[in-house]
Amino acid sequence: MGGRILILGLWIGGALLGVRSWVGSSLGIGPQPSNSCVNCHQGITTPLELSQRYYDWHLSVHKERGVTCDACHGGDSQARAVQEAHRGIFPSSDERSRVHGKTQVETCGACHPEVRAAYVASAHYVKLGSTGLGPFCSTCHLNMANSTVRSAADIGALCSRCHGAEGGLLPPNPQLLKNAQETLLSLSRANGVLIWADRLVEAAQEKRLDVAGEVRDLEAARRLLAEAKWEWHAFRFEPVRAKADRAFEQGTKVKDRLMQKVYPGPRL
Ligand code: HEC
Ligand code: HEC
Ligand code: HEC
Ligand code: HEC
Ligand code: HEC
Repeated sequence: MGGRILILGLWIGGALLGVRSWVGSSLGIGPQPSNSCVNCHQGITTPLELSQRYYDWHLSVHKERGVTCDACHGGDSQARAVQEAHRGIFPSSDERSRVHGKTQVETCGACHPEVRAAYVASAHYVKLGSTGLGPFCSTCHLNMANSTVRSAADIGALCSRCHGAEGGLLPPNPQLLKNAQETLLSLSRANGVLIWADRLVEAAQEKRLDVAGEVRDLEAARRLLAEAKWEWHAFRFEPVRAKADRAFEQGTKVKDRLMQKVYPGPRL
């Protein structure tokens, strides 16, 4: 990898803080008493940008699964003093940071190997990986991966930064944007029908109906959708769409069977 660094303002992620206005008064007692990052940061109320970061994490799947700050940022989660705890932590704009554009693929990829494998095969990684230019993980999984850019409009804006702008980095490519948007819609539709089916399974179990076969088929559809999501990260959309649509079809069949069991009788 050639260490060429392009300092373009393409990425609008975590611009932060010339300010150090925090007062060190909050080594409070928290839900994870052994993790000093969480303990200290949950009590920080100023500056706003820093405080908000805690809440981004607090409402994330990572918090739910016990993936604490140090898992992504590094540092020493046993040390109580700031300087010691922060040893090895750099702002995300610094190439040494574990959450810099160049390093995210390894940091996040350590726990998400299937996504990593697809991503490193993408044109983006091959052509842009060594520059740290987007789109990398946090470009789409905003704010420390507590949400995902899903809407067609958002993804359009995001990809347009390089693929849509007149006089931009690359020739405008409306077809590419359209494919990306449709692929997202088809992932989203498959998500939707599986959630519907999950609710019906719950309803069936409340009524003590036997839905073992449906649960099994639902798992197969879920697996297919998970693979489609992993493969999305290679940015080759046709196979992803095909898989997502198959997951949708299978999910729809299971959903319809469940409807018949849970709410038998004629349909309108
Ligand atoms: C899943 C990995 C992950 C976890 C867990 C995580 N972060 Fe982050 N964090 C990131 C990434 C990636 C960025 C840079 C991208 C961005 O701006 O969102 C970031 C940015 C930040 C920033 C902005 C400063 C900068 O360097 O850009 C702060 C402050 C921060 N995180 C604090 C925390 C705190 C405090 C916790 C725990 C309560 C935490 N993070 C947990 C991945 C994570
Ligand atoms: C005793 C309190 C305390 C502890 C412990 C602590 N932090 Fe911080 N952290 C702060 C304060 C205060 C700031 C803002 C000022 C600064 O950067 O020193 C901050 C800033 C940060 C930033 C933003 C850095 C930047 O350059 O923008 C990150 C990321 C971060 N902490 C992560 C962590 C992680 C990960 C841990 C655990 C390994 C941790 N912190 C432990 C108080 C703490
Ligand atoms: C220490 C392991 C670990 C690290 C590091 C990590 N994650 Fe995760 N992540 C998990 C676990 C566990 C889950 C929940 C189970 C799952 O969906 O795989 C998860 C879930 C997710 C999800 C799904 C969220 C949802 O709403 O379902 C996304 C997206 C994600 N991580 C992105 C990232 C990104 C981006 C990074 C790096 C900035 C990262 N992860 C770093 C362990 C990790
Ligand atoms: C161009 C946008 C984009 C980029 C870049 C991106 N992702 Fe994703 N990611 C998505 C979308 C869209 C989904 C599907 C979300 C959904 O429908 O639930 C997703 C799903 C995921 C999931 C959940 C998979 C599952 O089984 O549910 C994980 C984990 C994840 N991404 C991690 C990463 C990591 C790690 C990186 C960087 C190597 C990354 N993503 C880069 C858009 C992106
Ligand atoms: C930072 C700039 C940048 C952003 C943002 C970006 N791309 Fe790219 N993309 C590139 C570059 C550079 C290439 C490689 C072009 C080449 O090989 O000629 C590429 C290649 C691709 C390719 C392969 C095209 C081909 O002909 O092989 C696809 C598909 C793609 N991008 C989709 C997307 C999508 C979808 C988004 C939005 C989520 C996006 N890109 C955002 C810079 C970017």
